[in-house]
Amino acid sequence: MRYSLITVLLALSAYAAAPDPKAVERGKQQFQQACGFCHGNDATGARGPDLVRSALVNRDQDGKLIGPAVKNGRPDKGMPAFAYTDAQLSDLAAFLHQQVRAALDSNSVPRDYPVEKLATGNADAGKAYFFGAGHCDSCHSPTGDLAGIAKRYSPINLESRFLYPRGARRSVTVTLPSGEQVSGTLAQIDEFNVALRDGTGWYRSWARDQVKVEVHDPLDKHRELLYQYTDTDMHNLFTYLETLK
Ligand code: HEC
Ligand code: HEC
Repeated sequence: MRYSLITVLLALSAYAAAPDPKAVERGKQQFQQACGFCHGNDATGARGPDLVRSALVNRDQDGKLIGPAVKNGRPDKGMPAFAYTDAQLSDLAAFLHQQVRAALDSNSVPRDYPVEKLATGNADAGKAYFFGAGHCDSCHSPTGDLAGIAKRYSPINLESRFLYPRGARRSVTVTLPSGEQVSGTLAQIDEFNVALRDGTGWYRSWARDQVKVEVHDPLDKHRELLYQYTDTDMHNLFTYLETLK
């Protein structure tokens, strides 16, 4: 069994949190009424394409890609536009993600999925992308922080590390009513409070409505990349990273 790279990743990524079952149920009703005729009631395709194996659906997070695809349609290609609310689009996305998960569970992607099946790209093209269009070298170096990375992680872990890196600390700058600015490592943030640890390790917190907050996430760039690279770029990059032993 071969899996598309992104399907494997989705299965493993931290982003693949289970969608809300109520949203899935609403999305299912809606899908079967409005979309099943073309995409099949289980979304695996009929006269319209298979959405479970669609790169767009697999790469989607929270309907960011599915929403516009459904709202605008592709009238010239036989996909009508639907004037849905954001809530309806979000339910549809939840249903589609659930179908992807169900397909994965039934095939259960093994954790030790062999590298030959993942590293099907072209390492030279991946290297060119690393130093070129991907600008990976603005933050990383194959002889520096990424040296030996293929030895540090199993193929599947390396893959999910580079697509969904974790662990980098977010920093935050809080501007107090007096104009004083305090910066540090973000300790906690929600609707009501923000807290940080400053350079001396001191924990400080404020009510959100009292201060101005600016969060810097070093991984923002990585999240943007997810929307930039094509499947081919991903395969090539991964194949290149696998050479860094
Ligand atoms: C009349 C048939 C038809 C109906 C009804 C329809 N679609 Fe489509 N859909 C298509 C076709 C054909 C395409 C492929 C268009 C293309 O080739 O770019 C498509 C493409 C898509 C894509 C993009 C897939 C990709 O990989 O690019 C998504 C997402 C999608 N449809 C979701 C839906 C949803 C959700 C509904 C119901 C609200 C729906 N469609 C209803 C025919 C239909
Ligand atoms: C703007 C800076 C930036 C850019 C550009 C960037 N990364 Fe990263 N990358 C990071 C940060 C920050 C981390 C998290 C490091 C950590 O957690 O220690 C990371 C993590 C990684 C990891 C996991 C490293 C590990 O040891 O877990 C890999 C692999 C990786 N990036 C590859 C890439 C590739 C390939 C590209 C280009 C397509 C890229 N990065 C572009 C900043 C960047």
